[in-house]
Amino acid sequence: MIALTTPYLWYATRATGIVTMLLFTGVVALGTLVANRVGGTFIGRFEINEVHRSLTMVAMVFLVIHIATTVLDSFVSTGLISAVVPMTSAYKRIPVALGAVAFDLILAVWISSLLKLRIKNQTWRFLHWFSWLAYAISLVHGYLSGTDAHHGLGMALVIGCAGFVALAALWRFLGRPTRAAGRTALSPLASPSVPPRPRGPGAFPRTPPRPPSRRRR
Ligand code: HEM
Repeated sequence: MIALTTPYLWYATRATGIVTMLLFTGVVALGTLVANRVGGTFIGRFEINEVHRSLTMVAMVFLVIHIATTVLDSFVSTGLISAVVPMTSAYKRIPVALGAVAFDLILAVWISSLLKLRIKNQTWRFLHWFSWLAYAISLVHGYLSGTDAHHGLGMALVIGCAGFVALAALWRFLGRPTRAAGRTALSPLASPSVPPRPRGPGAFPRTPPRPPSRRRR
């Protein structure tokens, strides 16, 4: 096997780790907006959901680079297996194990979202809850393994991200709208209070005639 070691790989691991953490913070924040049905005329829920999905893709690319640079850097003994199987890394065993657990959970959430149309909505929802756990574990991983995470800007970033997502979680649980009976935010049946439209030839007129408008005196 070719030994590949250069400080640039280590710099890349650290830089992509921090960028991944910031991107997942944005992903979780946008997901909270979607779940709490935020959206108006300027930017609607559909657009917010699209940004949430696109940002997830960007975060996944950075995460893969973060893992690849770690594995390629032969200065540290971290194999490809340790990216998915916890406690198999000789380097920073527990912090890297936490990174692997977070990665496994993120993969489960991501794959379930790719298969969203093929699996039960309740299954997708259940798996999507793991994103909170994955995020929390990845923050602990970043804090424990980060070279600069215990002081200065590195620590400020970890604490800032943790505080921001803690507020988002609080708002998610306190401000969430009435449960949509297992329906997703973007489903056409998202609002249970709106009865389904009648279909077929006898369904017209679709909207009842308006009552004459009353003027205020
Ligand atoms: C799940 C998402 C992950 C996130 C958000 C994440 C984020 C981070 C962050 C923020 C750091 C600290 C960078 C610094 O301040 O120096 C870091 C370090 C590190 N990560 Fe990850 N990571 C993740 C997954 C993984 C996985 C699966 C591995 C296993 C290959 C891994 C391996 C490492 C290593 C070895 C370091 C320490 C680099 C050093 O020696 O300074 N990470 N990660």
